[in-house]
Order: sequence, then structure tokens, then C-alpha cells
Amino acid sequence: MSATMPSTVADRAWRELHEAATAPYKKGGSFAWHFARGKLGRDPVFRGLLERGLIEVEHERVVDIGCGQGLFASLLASMSAMQKQGRWPSTWFPTAPRPAYTGIELMPKDVARAQASIGHLEPKPTLLCADMCSAELPDCDLVVILDVLHYVDLQAQEAVLVRVRDALRRGGNFRARLLLRVGDASSRRGFAISQWVDRTVTRIRGHKVSPTWGRPLSEWTALLESLGFRVRSMPMSEGTPFANVLLVADLEQNEAA
Ligand SMILES: C[S@@+](CC[C@H](N)C(=O)[O-])C[C@H]1O[C@@H](n2cnc3c(N)ncnc32)[C@H](O)[C@@H]1O
Repeated sequence: MSATMPSTVADRAWRELHEAATAPYKKGGSFAWHFARGKLGRDPVFRGLLERGLIEVEHERVVDIGCGQGLFASLLASMSAMQKQGRWPSTWFPTAPRPAYTGIELMPKDVARAQASIGHLEPKPTLLCADMCSAELPDCDLVVILDVLHYVDLQAQEAVLVRVRDALRRGGNFRARLLLRVGDASSRRGFAISQWVDRTVTRIRGHKVSPTWGRPLSEWTALLESLGFRVRSMPMSEGTPFANVLLVADLEQNEAA
């Protein structure tokens, strides 16, 4: 087999999106820039969400919990720009033209990097330095929580998910959705590797390393279903040694009505 695979329209579009979404981080300094490039390039979740059509045109109000330096906001803005310019591959689903983004992040340094890098985007993202366990969640259509809930204990995880469900319900959108990526604690090796990498990255980002809490996939699913979500799960650690799973949790239509 040839070492270089033919580049598809989607591959080229993804490269363009990667460039556009990471460019604002040059303003945030060397760490912000390199981190954005590496994360968006290597983590399969971002392209995975896009290509599976999990971010929909009805998702106009987006809340990103544990947003770090707000990479998802930059990605959303670049996606809108590419669609406006007619440069969106026909195989990719359309997304909202001007999504309103709220990012919630505990670490002041990350919020400062986000502000310096993407604070100028249009529409202006709301970047809140706050604890997800107590932050007020605005009414919304889509909530994204990628690799965050394991930082708080099981009871606190459930309390966050209840408040997420309520914020989506108040939003009233029949396409209301939570995209939640978690580690599957029943897959011991992958879960242990992701915990080790998580601790290492936390240290590199200059933060204190605290204990973490996981659940097996079946428990995550049962918890979300008990809160009124319809849940699909899909592996989301392609090309990495982790046991990450993406839970696509749609609020039952009669619940959101
Ligand atoms: C592994 S990073 C993931 C960042 C981002 N979601 C992404 O996928 O690029 C986890 C983030 O959650 C944040 N975090 C941890 N505990 C939090 C809390 N209680 N409230 C808000 N954010 C929190 C961390 O500071 C960190 O930025």
C-alpha cells in the first residue's frame, strides 16, 4: 500500500478548518497556539462530531463545560465562515450560521488564553471562569462536555447532568442534545492510560493534579436515561490508546416540548 493515501475533499476541507480554527491562537502565545494545533489535529472527537452530523443547524445556543481555551468556539466560528463562503463539502452537514457560545472553565489561566485568542470572534463568545458545579447554565440547545466530568465525584457528576438537562429543557428545542465524552472505566487498560495522560497534561498546563472519578459505560448510559435522555454511544478515541466514548444524549422530545 502506498504510504500516502489520496487526499479526499473532506480531508482538504478538514485541513482548511484546522488552519482557520487554530489561527486565532497565535494571539494567545506559543503555548496556546501549539496546544490548539496539537489538540485539534490529533483528537478524533472534533472531526468525528462534524462528520457524523452531531452538531446540527438547530443548535444555535451552545454551552461548552470545561472548555479549556475555548477551541470548540473557534471551530464553530470557522465552520460557520466556511459555510458562508460556500466552501463546505457536500458530505458534511450544515451547522448554525451564527452560534452563540458560552464556555465555562475553572482555570483562570485557560480562560485568559481563551480571551486573548478568541475573545474577538463574532458573535462574541461568553467565556466564564467558574466551577461547573455551581455556575449558572444558560438556556441552550447543545451542551458539550468533553473529558471533564471525571474531575468531580459521582454525586457532583449527577448534579451537573441534572442542571444540564434542565438548561436544555428550558431552551425548548426539540433537537436539544448533550455531547458527553467520558472514559469507559470497564475498559481497564484504556481507562488507566487516559487517566495517566490526563494527569500529565494537567501538570504541563500548570495545574494541581487531583483525584478523578470514573464509571463504566453502562452506568453512564443508565444515569443519562434516568434523567430523560435517549442515549447512543460511540467509541471516540480512534488512533489513541484511550477508552474514550462519546455519548450522544438527546432530550426526549416530549421532555423538551
Ligand atoms: C481534559 S480538559 C478538556 C478541555 C476541553 N473540553 C477539550 O476537549 O479540549 C478538561 C477541562 O475541564 C476543566 N475543569 C475541570 N474541573 C472543572 C470544573 N469543576 N468546572 C469547570 N471546568 C473544569 C479543566 O480545567 C480543563 O480545562
